Amino acid sequence: MSIASAVLTGLIAGFTPVAAALSPAFRRPRAARWVRVVPDVNSVDIGVPFKVDFIDEVQDGWIESRALRSVWLSTEDAVEFKAWSGVCTHLGCSVSFDTEKDRFHCPCHHGLFDKQSGEVLGGPPPRGLDPLPVKVENDEVFVQYVTFRVGTERREPL
Ligand code: FES
Repeated sequence: MSIASAVLTGLIAGFTPVAAALSPAFRRPRAARWVRVVPDVNSVDIGVPFKVDFIDEVQDGWIESRALRSVWLSTEDAVEFKAWSGVCTHLGCSVSFDTEKDRFHCPCHHGLFDKQSGEVLGGPPPRGLDPLPVKVENDEVFVQYVTFRVGTERREPL
């Protein structure tokens, strides 16, 4: 191997980690993991979406930090659950649930989302709430939390 090709190989091998550290555009989406959000399915509200907050440990390059995350859960029978990210798809505010109007509401720019599907009912959000994988094991509910890019029609994990 010539010196030039050795230098070129070294540059290519070193490019990916350096680029990933410098620019989010080169970063691979991190692997989603299951988070326990309900310790007992018998304690949940039936037919009314409820929010669960949890602390997520985030590894970004060399930096390890913690972030407060929110998910919305809904069930009609405490057996099957739906889950959505609590982040508004417009600009990332926290979504709430309007019990009087029976729909999700984002207070920042009045984005509205359907209670059953999470689809947009009104306002500026470019897509519905981001659905999350959810499962029940041993009467506990787990969600696979994923962070998605906001402000785009396409659902893109970060
Ligand atoms: S951030 Fe939710 S409507 Fe704008």
